[in-house]
Amino acid sequence: MKSILDNRPLLAEKVAEVAEVAGYLWQKGWAERNGGNITVNITALADEEIRNMQAISDITPIGRTMPHLKGCYFFCKGTNKRMRDLARKPMENASVIRILDDCSNYVIIADNPVKPTSELASHLLMHNYMTGKGSNYKAVLHTHPIDLVAMTHNSIFLEKDILTYLLWSMIPETRAFCPKGLGIIPYEMPSSFDLADATVRELEEYDVVMWEKHGICAVSENITEAFDMVDTLSKSAQIYLTAKQMGFEPDGMSLMQMEEIRIAFNLPK
Ligand code: 13P
Ligand code: ZN
Repeated sequence: MKSILDNRPLLAEKVAEVAEVAGYLWQKGWAERNGGNITVNITALADEEIRNMQAISDITPIGRTMPHLKGCYFFCKGTNKRMRDLARKPMENASVIRILDDCSNYVIIADNPVKPTSELASHLLMHNYMTGKGSNYKAVLHTHPIDLVAMTHNSIFLEKDILTYLLWSMIPETRAFCPKGLGIIPYEMPSSFDLADATVRELEEYDVVMWEKHGICAVSENITEAFDMVDTLSKSAQIYLTAKQMGFEPDGMSLMQMEEIRIAFNLPK
């Protein structure tokens, strides 16, 4: 069967990277059934032929106008598709969409008419925000890490930056590789524009945000970097939980030790 990936090694590489990360999400236990979703802005890889490809779906409303996404192309996990299947057969469990010139509708162009993720509102609003501010971020990851989601069931951890400092203090790498910390979004209905709007507001300050009692979202230049930030935060959560299981409250690195990391890695305040 013909694929949009044929004779497009750069696009094939991007999709292979998504498939690799999808496999990790499943192995980590963060992707029960169809849990989680990935979108990648592939507009820079859309050649003339892609731009002329016919729609293979109806014109579908996004539900909102995305002024910075006119004519953009996204690789999107399909709704109800499993990460473990995306890992093995990416083009059967995802599709490529084109945002139409009205910035309010999309069509699927390849390979199969797989309906994009139910969290498309949040994903596209995040891409719209990132593109609008001229950022080079192209990837959005949403997943359900057990440890971090469990922590959002305690209201103490939902206060601003409490979880950020706790997780930073568990291991030096977390501050280094997740330097903006972790934003918190109070519970909202999955797939809703309320959730999308709240998520985008937090992106002004953070690259990774928790959706209370649901999951996490990370944005970065590519999907590997987005995954790595969540993985690093989850490692910190694991260290915290392991210490608690051993029967003690972990001391955590001191504020001074964390400040030393900030200076050594030249991180923002
Ligand atoms: P989708 O299968 O529609 O991508 O939904 C999974 C999910 O995690 C919703 O929040
Ligand atoms: Zn989810």
